[in-house]
Amino acid sequence: MTSPDLPAELKAALDGKLRGFSRSDAAARAAAISKTYRAGGNSGAIRSEADALAYALARMPATYAAVTASLNALIEIRPDLVPKTLLDVGAGPGTATWAAAEAFSSLQHLTLLDANDALRALALDLARDSTRLRNVSYERGEARTALAKADAADLVVASYVINEIGDAEQRALAELMWARTNDTLLLVEPGTPAGYARIIALRDHLIALGAHVAAPCPHDGPCPLQPPDWCHFSQRLQRSRAHMQVKGAEVPFEDERFSYVALTRAPVAQRRSRVLAQPDVGKVEITAKLCTTEGLSVTRVPRRAKADYASARRWRWGDAVS
Ligand SMILES: C[S@@+](CC[C@H](N)C(=O)[O-])C[C@H]1O[C@@H](n2cnc3c(N)ncnc32)[C@H](O)[C@@H]1O
Repeated sequence: MTSPDLPAELKAALDGKLRGFSRSDAAARAAAISKTYRAGGNSGAIRSEADALAYALARMPATYAAVTASLNALIEIRPDLVPKTLLDVGAGPGTATWAAAEAFSSLQHLTLLDANDALRALALDLARDSTRLRNVSYERGEARTALAKADAADLVVASYVINEIGDAEQRALAELMWARTNDTLLLVEPGTPAGYARIIALRDHLIALGAHVAAPCPHDGPCPLQPPDWCHFSQRLQRSRAHMQVKGAEVPFEDERFSYVALTRAPVAQRRSRVLAQPDVGKVEITAKLCTTEGLSVTRVPRRAKADYASARRWRWGDAVS
């Protein structure tokens, strides 16, 4: 399992960049960017080197943690996956590329693409001193245009990108990404009802085109959750001092809520139930909400079933369990 916290090389590169910048300026810029996102805006608000750094300091630890948690879940179901090539669509500062490089030592060719010059420049700067990442290739351009020219990759990732694409274009982008996927396509979005809705719409669309779900769902059927419920997960990550200052945070950790789907070309052999919320451990029984091959299930494990109870005590929200 890869740690959800930023790798030391990336932390050091971010700290190095921050040295020439005022933390209060970075905090003000990060707050303005967050306000834009909350109001439905996009990364177009990130225009300068200082904006890009502020975005990375404020958001990269959390999006990295969400992508890593998704990759950990994927690897658990697909331990045979050894991707050699990566395509990171809407790569921004390179978050998903760093996460994938940590998760898969097999990766040899890493390609990023994005339309934002400031984020691209920052990504290349952060990667410059990394042994794994210094030879990445970073294409500049609008995702659909760049994808049309891109080589296919074993692993294609779009992390926190679909929410920046207009509703009408999301399917077309997903189709293009799927067409460039040799093995697995991972989509990660904020863990809000709207983020989940985008994931589930593209999941259904790509299943209709022949995709199979590796994670989180143990099936390729329709999602059994009914509104107002939605499928999302939570990953805790540590906050560095700089991260706390830029976010004006008081606690040294953050819980990032995210929704994701990993879609593969080949049918998936392992179908393990997914824990959809933190189980309730009571004196008499453990109650867990699971997504199973048969649909949604509220499973009760009585204390008297000693071995089952002991193993259910270890279940955590997001785990794949048998
Ligand atoms: C919220 S950022 C996420 C960046 C990175 N994937 C991460 O997880 O930290 C969204 C990124 O998608 C890029 N993006 C949005 N729409 C795009 C498009 N149509 N073509 C290329 N890049 C796009 C933005 O420039 C930005 O870098």
